Amino acid sequence: MPKLTYDKTQEYLISLVPPREPELQKMEEIAEKDNFPIIGPACGYYCYQLARMIKATSVFELGSGYGYSTAWFAKAVKENGGGVVHHTVWDEDLSKRATGHLSALGSGEVVEFHVAEAVETLRQARGPFDIIFNDIEKQGYPGSLPVIKEKLRRGGILIIDNILWSGRIFDSKNHDKSTEAIRRFTRDITTDPDWIVSLAPVRDGMIIAYKK
Ligand SMILES: C[S@@+](CC[C@H](N)C(=O)[O-])C[C@H]1O[C@@H](n2cnc3c(N)ncnc32)[C@H](O)[C@@H]1O
Repeated sequence: MPKLTYDKTQEYLISLVPPREPELQKMEEIAEKDNFPIIGPACGYYCYQLARMIKATSVFELGSGYGYSTAWFAKAVKENGGGVVHHTVWDEDLSKRATGHLSALGSGEVVEFHVAEAVETLRQARGPFDIIFNDIEKQGYPGSLPVIKEKLRRGGILIIDNILWSGRIFDSKNHDKSTEAIRRFTRDITTDPDWIVSLAPVRDGMIIAYKK
């Protein structure tokens, strides 16, 4: 039997994603050129699918960059009949760039932009949300969980990126702060009976957690 390799599988997953709008493709090219860590088309389409499946109309994103992941959630929310996607990043410049991309995609009207620390912004947000997506600095993951749990509605979905952390989580000699934080977050959520959790090995691994 041929060996299933990680890279080949990821290429295949990306090949199954339908063609994207030119602006979304442009955003993917920018990430490639600048080596900016967007979630990419396979994760983006997966987020879009989940948001359509639960008919999400309120999404809160933590760590939104220049709006690539936001664009997928905004597309779903618009197709679900409208609502709001919160874009949260602490870099003013990235927020401005996101505003431009999302308006070019015709999604500007469903996105609310916050230039601030993301977990604190979520803490102050009204909620509850249908989906919370987390892609902040990894050391912030464990501390974000209680706030997310409070602000997500029952039956809502938490999506959190970089759970495989390029395989560093498997290296027993790696104890850097980000790796340890991802291990701790994964342990915390998978042992909490209030969540139904699975890890989707798409790109860098996303946890998909359903709040009971
Ligand atoms: C991995 S990138 C986001 C990529 C984006 N989710 C996408 O796929 O298009 C994370 C971004 O969030 C910002 N960031 C990290 N931690 C943050 C925090 N605690 N609060 C606000 N922004 C944060 C970083 O500066 C960076 O721009």
